[in-house]
Amino acid sequence: MIFDLKDLKTAEKQYYLQHVIAPRPICFASTIDKEGNVNLSPFSFFNLFSTHPPIVIFSPSRRVRDNTTKHTLENVLEVPEVVINIVTYDMVHQVSLSSCEFSKETNEFIKAGFTPEPATLIKPPMVKESKVKLECKVIEVKPLGTEGGAGNLVICEVLKLHIDDSLIDDNGKIDQRNIHHVARLGGDWYCKVDETNLFHVPKPNTELGIGVDALPETIRNSKILTGNNLGQLANVQEIPVVDPSFYDTELKNIIQYFSINPDEMEKELHIYAKKLLEEGKVREAWQVLLV
Ligand SMILES: Cc1cc2nc3c(=O)[nH]c(=O)nc-3n(C[C@H](O)[C@H](O)[C@H](O)COP(=O)(O)O)c2cc1C
Repeated sequence: MIFDLKDLKTAEKQYYLQHVIAPRPICFASTIDKEGNVNLSPFSFFNLFSTHPPIVIFSPSRRVRDNTTKHTLENVLEVPEVVINIVTYDMVHQVSLSSCEFSKETNEFIKAGFTPEPATLIKPPMVKESKVKLECKVIEVKPLGTEGGAGNLVICEVLKLHIDDSLIDDNGKIDQRNIHHVARLGGDWYCKVDETNLFHVPKPNTELGIGVDALPETIRNSKILTGNNLGQLANVQEIPVVDPSFYDTELKNIIQYFSINPDEMEKELHIYAKKLLEEGKVREAWQVLLV
């Protein structure tokens, strides 16, 4: 299917875009109006956009249904401060409950069963149960339109970051496996980040990878190696050379059994290289492919 966005109704645009631009982290925003009424609502149109200055943006949209605005937006226009509480798996149902359209006077901390904790620099309270909280100053609110579905960018400068000790390892670093973020996808779908679905991709930050276009043709056009496999192989700074000290029993067996049939041998080498790449053994995979 291919859509021209101008031909879609607003609800359809929302439906397709929210399913495909996913997963989105969730900002659980605590705000306050000038009378001191506290509000707590989740927003998944949210992300980090700058670290120096430290800027995060979330977007309370105009309702598609009736073009009304959200209390959170009204609050930040009155008191330009917000605590962004990061949403984790153990709180997701309470967070969802807080997204009901309660009246402006209703405090969602009470409705959803969260504990308010004073922030140190700003007026809105933090959510005690949240393991990460960002005290922020709202530096700009940028409306993106005037009709239902239009977002309002709430551009926030992070002043203070609170991280629960349970997330920190013995070296004082954040252990990503302990946070258990949840993220929003389309409709009622969410996903949970935990050890079972986390993986590393080595960052090519200083040296340039050779690129897929520089891989030998037999590798680049392999029917066995995947795009991910080629990405791993092409992230070396130069094509490796045969290492005479490299010894591998499986490689030896392949060479022995298939030497009379070069096509079969290439296929077997690629299958074995793929297995090594899936174990993260890029150097070994290169040695196999160099045969
Ligand atoms: C996980 C989650 C994410 C949401 N993300 C957004 C969002 O990014 N923008 C938005 O306008 N509404 C979003 N909503 C809906 C608002 O939370 C909901 O409209 C809420 O009632 C707004 O509260 P308020 O009027 O008290 O500010 C989300 C709801 C949930 C449960």
